Amino acid sequence: TELWQPERANARGWDLAAPEHLAEIEAARAPFRTTRFEGGPLLAGEAAPEPAHKVLSPSDPADLVGHARFASTADVETAFAAAQPWAVAVEERARVLNAVADAYEAEFGRIFALLAREAGKTPDDSVAEIREAVDFLRYYAAQKVDAPPLGRVVCISPWNFPLAIFTGQIAAALMAGNAVLAKPAPQTTLIAALAVNLMHEVGVPRSALQLLPGAGEVGAALTSDARVDGVAFTGSHPTAKRIQAALAEHAAPGTPLIAETGGLNAMIVDSTALPEQAVKDVVESAFQSAGQRCSACRCLYVQTDIYESFLEMLKGAMDAFRVGDPWFLDADSGPLIDAAAHEQIAGYVEGKRAEGKLLHQIAAPEGGHFLAPSLIAVDGIGEIEREVFGPVLHVARYRAADLEKVIGAINATGYGLTFGLHTRIDDRVEFVTERVHAGNVYVNRNQIGAIVGSQPFGGEGLSGTGPKAGGPHYLPRFCQPVEPALPA
Ligand code: SER
Repeated sequence: TELWQPERANARGWDLAAPEHLAEIEAARAPFRTTRFEGGPLLAGEAAPEPAHKVLSPSDPADLVGHARFASTADVETAFAAAQPWAVAVEERARVLNAVADAYEAEFGRIFALLAREAGKTPDDSVAEIREAVDFLRYYAAQKVDAPPLGRVVCISPWNFPLAIFTGQIAAALMAGNAVLAKPAPQTTLIAALAVNLMHEVGVPRSALQLLPGAGEVGAALTSDARVDGVAFTGSHPTAKRIQAALAEHAAPGTPLIAETGGLNAMIVDSTALPEQAVKDVVESAFQSAGQRCSACRCLYVQTDIYESFLEMLKGAMDAFRVGDPWFLDADSGPLIDAAAHEQIAGYVEGKRAEGKLLHQIAAPEGGHFLAPSLIAVDGIGEIEREVFGPVLHVARYRAADLEKVIGAINATGYGLTFGLHTRIDDRVEFVTERVHAGNVYVNRNQIGAIVGSQPFGGEGLSGTGPKAGGPHYLPRFCQPVEPALPA
């Protein structure tokens, strides 16, 4: 059956291959190259005075991006006491959310600059990020689901899509009329504060949307409060479990948790695949955004017959991949988000080198938290103990007769977020995609970059609860139980 979709159009975005778009981006972001940004709690009451800390760019520790303040436990209390559902007509909420989308587009220079400096996003990634945020706003605004809200909804979002996922959760919760208490990842407080300031400026009431930046303690204080009526969370599987336990202990029975967690995503390339296309798609899927996407390819299966030649091509493509300062257009990817991520993932790669499993690695610049994309040999996906959230691709070979076993091993991880397949045999597409458990399945293309409306995004099993973001079922979950709006 065809999914009902609200009527609206995705954002135009910017085409980095078009000189006039590039000139537009350069002119808009240049004034913010050295701006010192400020960000902290944005409450409907007064925030407790907390010391600010320096925000340094992950690609250049000499770049002081600005100063951020985190919320205190007193702020959590202030926010719950002041939270009020957004009790205006659904048309009015839609009008304001569309105005937020317009404000993001109007302020794209400031956002572009901050995405590069605070989150290490390349221009390519920033274009996609701003578009996705704008698309979420307009998509949920167009749905106009008119049903009672849950009440007070806590939205906890990650640093890897500091504008898009942050905005998507909030847009759905607000569009349903909830009072939102948003906790962005501590690494990207400044982007979150910029976004919430814009939302408040165009008419989202402060009592309906409050920002409480901080680390895990702030999230724990928010989700273990008896006044919570729902939680939207994107992050790790263990954290989702902790939130679920907190809700079970403190909140009313049946308080919903909408969680999008990690993945151990595989791609299969068979001997009929078009190698040039497959190599390009593998490199993008594994290494774009420094592999810091929950959708990223973590394990590549290549059919034995083409394994050697395919690997030679893949290594060549890796050699041409450029890790560097994400401000500049020639960087294919930027840095890891912080020193802790770098230490952890570099340590993992070094461990694999010691075991003799490191097949290839390219150079990365000094200075920031840059890590070289690496290729690691495995016998199968079952050997990968956990999601490595960086530019690390595991590769295994498989014999054609073992295809079903490979699918079984992929499913046995328990995760089910994205999956990729490269083949030119139609029956094989059907055979594999019918058997693989994954929320988003991509054939003969890369496996990252889901588009709002066209590719609702979310996984199954350990990868999340659903419903998929950017699809028609997401917004109704932020309301008291209701049927999704259907066409007249
Ligand atoms: N939505 C993002 C993507 O599709 C993932 O996190 O890449």
